[in-house]
Amino acid sequence: MPLVYAVVGPKGMAMSVRTIKILDTTLRDGEQSAGVCFSPDDKLEIARMLEALRVDVIEAGFPAASTTEAAAVRGVARAIKDSSICALARAVTGDIDQAWQSIRDAVDPRIHIFLSASKQHIEHQLKSTRSKIIAQTRAALVHAGRYTDNVQFSPMDATRSDPIFLAEIVRTAIRAGARIINIPDTVGAAIPLSIERLFERLYADVPELGEVEVSFHGQNDLGLATANALAATIAGASQIETTVNGIGERAGNTALEEVVMALRIHHQNIGAITRIKSRHLYAASQLVETRSGLAVSPNKAVVGGNMFRHASGIHQDGVLKQRENYEVIDPDWIGHPRGTEVVLGKLSGRSGFESRVRSLGIQLSPQGLDVAFGRFQKHADVCQETDNDELRVICIIAEAWPGPGV
Ligand code: KIV
Repeated sequence: MPLVYAVVGPKGMAMSVRTIKILDTTLRDGEQSAGVCFSPDDKLEIARMLEALRVDVIEAGFPAASTTEAAAVRGVARAIKDSSICALARAVTGDIDQAWQSIRDAVDPRIHIFLSASKQHIEHQLKSTRSKIIAQTRAALVHAGRYTDNVQFSPMDATRSDPIFLAEIVRTAIRAGARIINIPDTVGAAIPLSIERLFERLYADVPELGEVEVSFHGQNDLGLATANALAATIAGASQIETTVNGIGERAGNTALEEVVMALRIHHQNIGAITRIKSRHLYAASQLVETRSGLAVSPNKAVVGGNMFRHASGIHQDGVLKQRENYEVIDPDWIGHPRGTEVVLGKLSGRSGFESRVRSLGIQLSPQGLDVAFGRFQKHADVCQETDNDELRVICIIAEAWPGPGV
């Protein structure tokens, strides 16, 4: 059960806040991003970073995929001491055996079994029936239980499943030994409202859910993975699955950095936080960008390159007066090395310009400053961004040659 502690709420009243767990699947679902292939060394390095971040559970891979994958998962399981290590398995004995062999040396090993629950998948992918799926779920969990009681079950495509059948498969899994029930939004079809309703209904139909860890896994096909994860948290989830930079199958997964920072900022409203050390988030993002080869978009929430760069005059003026005027996150919170930056371009104003000139240590007379600003504006009209070298040249010439014609 999640740790609950008290914080001081908005009106000075004590309120309880749960600590929810993070299962990070950068090394498993993240590697399912088209074009990504982590070497065993990449997996180890990223796992060490996840451990430094204090991720509760690291899903290290899918050992049945190949012998290299199984060896990479084993390497992670042996090296990591402060996070639980999880391996994914289909609901078949061979996969479960391989998963266990790969993680058995971990300090806290977890087997994660998945099996589709939606009519779409049961009929058109697995060519199975509901009664066979129930029997297979039971058998797989009983088999995994021979190795460990730390077993997680995911009814795949849960958000598109018939809620009555979903309740049946979840009940079956818990009775057969699942200690963690993960609800996957496999194709990213859900919206926050539907997640809240689904959780509400599941808790009502399966009272046993109150006895286990309840998790949410969101894909980002509609751009709602983080919003859905927050909705699941509000609805009672005690574990959220994430990936660094939101990488993962198709449009990716719930981004670790987004959930962590949203909960840090809104913990009083949502009543939950994580134990993640947010000051390592930027470094983790950079590491995963390099090792995955997937460039982080400049406008990516929390860790994107433009996150703390202010380009328009009004915003520059505001942020220079007080950072909070135009930033919701303090760059230090995520360990951002450069911090708040004024970008000189077409929309920049006088205060942004002056602050950049000052930051370069350039001393200008009042007339030189006027001239330099006028020339900068002409330059900025035709240039995307004025860098420090260009700015220095503009200032030196303006001071030396303030007259017209330059
Ligand atoms: O998207 C999905 O359904 C998954 C499960 C295995 C959790 O990745």
